[in-house]
Amino acid sequence: MRLGVNIDHVATLRQARKTFEPSPLFASLLAQQAGAHQITLHLREDRRHIQDEDLRLIKKLVKIPVNLEMAPTEEMKKIALEVRPNRITLVPERREEITTEGGLNVVSLEGFLKEYLKDIKAVGIEVSLFVEPEEDQIVASKHVGADAVELHTGRYANLWNEHQRKELKKELERLKKASIIAKELGLRVYAGHGLTYQNVGDLVRELKGYVEELNVGHSIVSNAVLFGFERAVREFIERMKDGLKY
Ligand code: PXP
Repeated sequence: MRLGVNIDHVATLRQARKTFEPSPLFASLLAQQAGAHQITLHLREDRRHIQDEDLRLIKKLVKIPVNLEMAPTEEMKKIALEVRPNRITLVPERREEITTEGGLNVVSLEGFLKEYLKDIKAVGIEVSLFVEPEEDQIVASKHVGADAVELHTGRYANLWNEHQRKELKKELERLKKASIIAKELGLRVYAGHGLTYQNVGDLVRELKGYVEELNVGHSIVSNAVLFGFERAVREFIERMKDGLKY
């Protein structure tokens, strides 16, 4: 299974001060060096974390594929056609939400998406739709011309974190069934949301061979902050000791 690393929350930290660090580009290059197969980033309408310039720089300087998560708006389509990420993933977006809360309702947007995706497909950008693991959403994804679906693992993650073993088993079955349906329709299958060191193992064991790729963001950024914390403090103390000049 491949790993797409979502670097949105590196930008969240930077935007807390609206300064230059930490750099999402630098994080992307480190992810690439560590073996990530893809960089995923969400350019939100309110620009709360990733900025347009981050996307441009990352697309230009990172060698692994770039997956742009975006809402299906005209503004985002224009940006995608200009920057040409390797893939776009359409997600629903609400200003008040903390993170993407549910899958895209492809069933209700079928007519609109069929038209919306034409220009994007015409230039060869891969199209993935972030959906709940439900048959009607997957069938509708095929109808609108998507190349792939990304299955929402948020419910799986919540059930795992709450130790709801019985429901968890059912959710894994739902994800597996959705993957089979998607594959039979000729769609590629990805998954993501809420995955952590703790809950990823069970998911991988069950969905290996069904899901090609996971997209993980918050947990990787959280671990990066903690694993790097001791070193960052030590190095700051060193610089204070010596009064190092840059
Ligand atoms: N996949 C999609 C479509 C997402 O919107 C997100 C969150 O931005 C993720 C994966 C990653 O989720 P998390 O940050 O919880 O790992």
